[in-house]
Order: sequence, then structure tokens, then C-alpha cells
Amino acid sequence: MHSSAPLPLRSARASGLTGRIRVPGDKSMSHRALMFGAVAIGETVIRGLLEAEDVINTARAMTALGAAAARGSDGVWRVQGVGVAGLTSPAAALDFGNSGTGVRLAMGLMATTPLTARCVGDASLSRRPMGRVTTPLAQFGARFETAEGGRLPLTLLGARDPVPITYTLPVASAQVKSAVLLAGLNTPGITTVIEPTPTRDHTERMLQGFGAKIAVTRVDGARHIALEGQHELKAQSLDVPGDPSSAAFPMVAALITEGSDIVIENILLNPTRTGLIDTLVEMGGDIVIENRRLAGGEDVGDLHVRHARLQGVRVPPERAPSMIDEYPILSVAASFAEGTTRMEGLEELRVKESDRLAAVEAGLQANGVSTRSGRDWLEVTGGGAPGGGTVVTHMDHRIAMSFLVMGLAARHATVVDDSRFIATSFPDFTGLLNGMGAKIAAAQ
Ligand code: S3P
Repeated sequence: MHSSAPLPLRSARASGLTGRIRVPGDKSMSHRALMFGAVAIGETVIRGLLEAEDVINTARAMTALGAAAARGSDGVWRVQGVGVAGLTSPAAALDFGNSGTGVRLAMGLMATTPLTARCVGDASLSRRPMGRVTTPLAQFGARFETAEGGRLPLTLLGARDPVPITYTLPVASAQVKSAVLLAGLNTPGITTVIEPTPTRDHTERMLQGFGAKIAVTRVDGARHIALEGQHELKAQSLDVPGDPSSAAFPMVAALITEGSDIVIENILLNPTRTGLIDTLVEMGGDIVIENRRLAGGEDVGDLHVRHARLQGVRVPPERAPSMIDEYPILSVAASFAEGTTRMEGLEELRVKESDRLAAVEAGLQANGVSTRSGRDWLEVTGGGAPGGGTVVTHMDHRIAMSFLVMGLAARHATVVDDSRFIATSFPDFTGLLNGMGAKIAAAQ
């Protein structure tokens, strides 16, 4: 899928970004639209699907499981659903590439159907923990043969006679929550997930749209999500709005680059995803939400962003789930703020596409920014990044994009050692930023 040699990129100081742009569709919603379409009855139609490697791998996996997912010449995706009990053993291994969401949600979807599937991924994904989903899925009756440490590659043997479970999430993870709920779709009786800390709720919302029997209640501050299984889902027509986790890059680029004034249109503003916007506004960021509207049951709006002087803040741990993928780019923003920014509750960053806490800190230091850190916190000293460093991206798209954004406002250009993984979530990142006035080009 990737060219074999790393592709380093260099980002030099820009004199102001301008324009109206759109970023690709939301990644979380795109994976789910394909997967829920695969187990619905009838043809699900998806507009605005994110066409990036992670999601394409999910589309291929659904096709290999018997639910053909394909792009029409009109750019619209259609999935031929096979019903909640209809998935069948794939002929070859399912390759999820770099995507934790792809493999973990698909494991949930497959776990309660009597099929056998080998799941593989790239070196980054093969290092990430899978026990967080195999443990609850085994309680339904699924079996797993895994590599050392419960990791990929693994073989899943779906349960023939699944039993419903009640599961309290031991980590704040939408992927684990979703894997359990998806396993519940083909399980008789009621599967319940108890979520002490709320995480992104796309699975609950979208399953409701597909007609699932799902109910959310609050008990002593925790969310209880109950799903009654073995009811068929009805195919849907979906519009996927722009991904706030991708919009985060041009948003911070405009905030830190003098003279910038941009609009990012049609961004998903689900409150479980907007922690970065809240934090940047607290820091003094000039972000105005225009044209706020409801689309397909989700909040959507246009983000008008202008350059601003930022102040360091403390970002509390309870905000982490609503901006879990945004700490790398927030750290870049923090390096241009006045004063220190302290981020807490970051333990999950250790098990993302890379150890993001370590990768961000190393990247900041390579560019002359002072930092301090602990197991689950990071402090970034602001004042402006000197730049001039080369950042090791560790197969992590968000590390690559964050430090290319840093280069736009740093005194000296930044280099990222490998930009290939940007294609997992935001294939036209460089073209889109350069179209607004950035100077990102191949590094020698
Ligand atoms: C996602 C959940 C988050 C996030 C990931 C997408 C999802 O992971 O980091 O990029 O779509 O459910 P965790 O569930 O591991 O926190």
C-alpha cells in the first residue's frame, strides 16, 4: 500500500493562510457507516465517506465478509448489507493496516457469528493492545488465537451460541464500547455497556438511526447503554460531515500563523469531539462557529479561524476523551502560546498509533521547545518554536501533520522524517494547506 521508502517533508514559515476549505469526512463515522451498513438489511448509501487508507481497509474487510462495499462513479459509497447474522468467513486474512478503530470494531462485529477470520495490521497496529477487546468478546463466547501479549496477528473464532454480557469499561475507550455493542447485535437478550467516563457516542447515535433497539440511561453519573440483540437493522442513507480531528490541523495552522483568516466548512461538532475547540478558545483562539445546523442527527458548523495570540492553560484530565486525538496538535499550539500549557489525563496517548506522549515530546524538543512530562501528563513551555528540527513520526499520521503545521510559524523550517502515514486519515493534507498559502514540500 505504501511506497517502500520513507517520504520526508519540510515545512517553512508562511505569511498567512487564507481561503475556504473542506476537510475529508469524519473517520469514526466513516468506519461505522460501512460496518453498520454491512449488517443491515438492504443497501446503505454513504455520501462524504472518508476515502483514506484506514477506511478503505474497513470497506475491503466488509466486502471480504460478504457485504460488498464499493464506490460508485458518482463518488457515493454503497454497502450491500447481509443482516446481523449474515457475515461469513473471509477467504484471506483481513488487513486493517494502521487502524485500531477498524480492527477493534470489526472484531466486535464478527465475534458473535460462527465464522473464522484472521486479522492482521502493520507494525504500528501490531504493537497496540487488543486484550481490551478480546477480554469482553471472549465473555460472549468468542475465541482468539493471538500473537504474544494478546496482540495482532490474531485469529478470531466467532461464538456459535453467544451469551449477552454486562461490561463496565475499564478504560475510557469508544472503540471498546463499540466492540461490545456490535457483538451484542447478533446476541440474544440484552447487552449492556457501563461507561463511567463518556466517550464519543457515534455508535449509539448511528445504531439508533439504523433502527437498533438501544437505550441510554444515566445511573450515578455513568452512562448505561443497553442493546437488545438479534433484531435486524434497516439500511440507511448517510451524509458524513468533515472530521474535526482533521480540521484541527488547519485550525491550529491559522491560529499560529500571522495574517491568517480561513473558514473550514461543514465540520462535525458532536460535543464528544469538540474538546480541542473549547481549549483553543480558552487559550484566546479566535474561532467563531458559523452556520451551526443539525445534519443527519449531528451538530455541524463552519469554523471561521483567524490568527490570535494564545495563552497557556491547564487542560483538565476529564476533557481528554473529547480531544484524545488532538493532543499532538494542541502541543504545537501550546509552543506558540504565552506561558506554559499543562495537559493531564494522557495515559491513553501511550497506546495510540505511536506512544504519542513520547513522540510529541521528542518532536517539540527537536525543535527547541522546552517540555516536562510524566506517565500521563505533559507541560509545554510557550513563547514560539525555534524549529529547525527533524521529527521522527513513528508511523503516526497525527505526529507528521502536527509538526508540519509547526513549521508554518516556527523561525526555522521543520522536517518530518516520513509523511506516508498521512494517507491513513487525510490524503490531501499537503495540497489543502499549500492551497491556503503553506509551504510544505519534499525534504532532501
Ligand atoms: C475512535 C476512538 C478513539 C480515537 C480513535 C477513534 C473511534 O480511540 O483515538 O482515533 O472511532 O471509536 P479509543 O477508543 O482507543 O480511545
